[in-house]
Amino acid sequence: MMTSTSVVRDVWRVASGEPAMRSEGLGVRAGPSTLAVHAGETRPNAHHALTVPIAQTATYTFADTADLRDFMEARMWGGARDRTEYGRYVNPTVAAVEARLAALDGGGDALLFASGMAAVTSVLLSFLTAGTHVVITDDSYRRTRQFCLTFLKRFGIECSVVPMGDWAAMEAAIRPTTRLIVSESPTNPYLRVLDLTRLVEIGQRHGVKTLIDSTFATPLNQRPLDFDVDLVVHSATKYLSGHNDLLAGVVVASESLIALLRQNLGVLGAVVDPHNAYLLLRGLKTLGLRVQRQNESGQRVAEFLEGHPRVRRAWYPGLTSHPDHDTARAQMLGFGGVVSFEIDGDLDATSRFVDAVRLPIIAPSLGGVETLIEQPALMSYYELSTEEREAVGIKDNLVRLSLGIEEVEDLITDLEQALERY
Ligand SMILES: Cc1ncc(COP(=O)(O)O)c(C=O)c1O
Repeated sequence: MMTSTSVVRDVWRVASGEPAMRSEGLGVRAGPSTLAVHAGETRPNAHHALTVPIAQTATYTFADTADLRDFMEARMWGGARDRTEYGRYVNPTVAAVEARLAALDGGGDALLFASGMAAVTSVLLSFLTAGTHVVITDDSYRRTRQFCLTFLKRFGIECSVVPMGDWAAMEAAIRPTTRLIVSESPTNPYLRVLDLTRLVEIGQRHGVKTLIDSTFATPLNQRPLDFDVDLVVHSATKYLSGHNDLLAGVVVASESLIALLRQNLGVLGAVVDPHNAYLLLRGLKTLGLRVQRQNESGQRVAEFLEGHPRVRRAWYPGLTSHPDHDTARAQMLGFGGVVSFEIDGDLDATSRFVDAVRLPIIAPSLGGVETLIEQPALMSYYELSTEEREAVGIKDNLVRLSLGIEEVEDLITDLEQALERY
């Protein structure tokens, strides 16, 4: 039998920041930046430490057999105990991060994973069985699509890919066996924004669960659970940790859905390391500041790029020219720090531009403090031909810029010089 983790977590964690907020005297209506600093901490911490200690342990000890029996009995009957027995089931440092992330996204509970992909794949494996079907929107993270289209197929699970924003195609794709509709919002790399109200209406009408990968938005800019989406996933590798120094993923949902996923995580095993959990908790403390800065820089850089004669098109939900600008305005508080744009030129000219910038660093990923730049055709889609890339919507002249926290004027000056000389 699996550890009754909720029993243990009742002691360690604080759902939605409530008791912790009260014990801190901050009140339950704390704003997101306050939650990002405080939620999930039950004071006093061990040793009266200000920060949540790193519980760097794989296993937990028992004084004697009576102590062990006591624990097992309590677990069997769901009695409250302030401990666990093994690190794959619960870790107090991890539990503190989960409580903070649940509070930020307004969920009943959250579950941390070793990476964003571990979170995505674990959810899909938990809700899909042989003979069932999943619908996924295109313009999504390539590995998620790959998992649905190739990996799940081996287990007799079918997948339909529908164009982002094509509601008729989504309705038509739903079958009696459909269990899940999966989408990102905003998407990678075109920052398409899905109308969450409409998605939920379709999901509920068909009795199908909805999942939003909200990595690009963060809970500061968008809270899909407030729209009754069932499950939210983030690659915590990006904005949530914010420093490009760890991999982690999280799912936020109701307590009952997370309880199911937690049971499965105990079997699948893709748990996050306590050190990484601590770094994530530390990174979260500055989430509000970072995202505010990245939102502002995103807007400024997008407007600059859109107005430049050597840029064919800029993609940013904060631009009125973006196809989903109205939806983004209605359901997001900020438009994020990723801007994609098409250079006036071919594959090689675009590479020359990427090489001509000085501040942004060439690297995959996004959401950290350093501005990163990539040409998707030569990064995630390198092994595909131009035609194959076009088929999945990746143009040779597309550039994706993930803004960090540098002065936006410095970034714009740099982009300007690169656009003049590539
Ligand atoms: C939108 C999105 N979801 C999921 C992932 C996967 O996350 P991770 O790299 O932490 O496994 C990524 C990674 O780039 C992503 O961009």
